[in-house]
Amino acid sequence: MSSTVLLLPGDGIGPDVLASARRILDVVRPDIEYSTCDVGLTALESTGKPYPSDLVARARAADAVLFGAVGGEQYLEVPWDLRPEAALFALRQGLDLFANLRPIRSISALLHRSAIRPDLAEGVDLLIVRELVGGAYFGAKGIRDDGTAFDTFEYSRESVARVVRAAFRLARNRNARVTSVDKANILRTSQLWRKVAGEIAMEFPEATLEHLLVDNASLQLLMRPRSFDVVVTENLFGDILSDSTAAVVGGLGMLPSASLGSAGPGLFEPVHGSAPDIAGQGIANPFAAILTAAMLLRYGLQDRDNATRIERAVGAALDSGSRTPDLGGTATTDDATEAVVSALAST
Ligand code: NAI
Ligand code: MG
Repeated sequence: MSSTVLLLPGDGIGPDVLASARRILDVVRPDIEYSTCDVGLTALESTGKPYPSDLVARARAADAVLFGAVGGEQYLEVPWDLRPEAALFALRQGLDLFANLRPIRSISALLHRSAIRPDLAEGVDLLIVRELVGGAYFGAKGIRDDGTAFDTFEYSRESVARVVRAAFRLARNRNARVTSVDKANILRTSQLWRKVAGEIAMEFPEATLEHLLVDNASLQLLMRPRSFDVVVTENLFGDILSDSTAAVVGGLGMLPSASLGSAGPGLFEPVHGSAPDIAGQGIANPFAAILTAAMLLRYGLQDRDNATRIERAVGAALDSGSRTPDLGGTATTDDATEAVVSALAST
């Protein structure tokens, strides 16, 4: 049976970069079948809602979901459930996508654009696994009569266990080294996190587990990024660490991500947004979306060979000098995409 992918192009540069991802997937996996659905402002303008009511059902019927980006300059002051991002939250919640994967891999041709020294950035290949549906983002929150605001940090054993287990499983296909990041010297949730991480590690005797406190981790990830393999942490810590560690790679236009649940389809999306400042100009960097397509193959369709092929082809396209303006070049989205297609032909 062939695989099916639900495409959600969204707004701004979303449709452009998803077209590039699709072009690459068509080359390596012509058997994949697609369906498409409007989300974000594009959907809001035509239907009055930021996503169709059967979005989660349509996602469940697919093997993976490939998302572009949503949002624009207008509509910032709309009610919460009409916000363009509502589609993303509906999918995260509806598919229970508790593990957010952000690979940080340095690219030789872009070492000079890294925010850290090229000799430190070289050869980095790490994966941040962020818990996505718990912690302070989802705990009880409110404002008391005296004006005090609060957000409750909460984790159950099971919610820690499942994301740590996911991290160890991912480490199995990598270098089998897991770093768990917490603040166990202060936070009760972190003490639970550390204890449960230690228990889960026993299920994976071939892997190693190291614990780091989050403040130290934020420093070590930039001082010695090459020494990390899989880093697993709770929602808020992961949100911050995944963005700060991205400084190792030269630019938003290069960063892919995936969000996975325990069963059912994952959601694959570039880290960047809809970039309204360059939308419609045909100059968006398609590499983040193309690398996202590679993640979709690796983690969504269990096709590691083609995932690696795409990643190598992006490296080769950059080596050949193909750069969109955000990387200091003059290539258009289409030029950069075709450079990857050519590189695929010679691998
Ligand atoms: P952004 O990521 O859209 O853009 C930030 C800067 O990076 C801009 O200067 C943009 O031109 C540049 N950039 C981003 N991706 C690029 C690419 N592929 N090629 C070349 N340049 C690129 O973030 P910003 O400006 O904060 O947000 C713009 C809109 O996107 C907002 O409505 C925001 O809510 C939305 N957004 C959506 C996300 C999503 O759909 N997951 C994630 C982040 C923001
Ligand atoms: Mg963030």
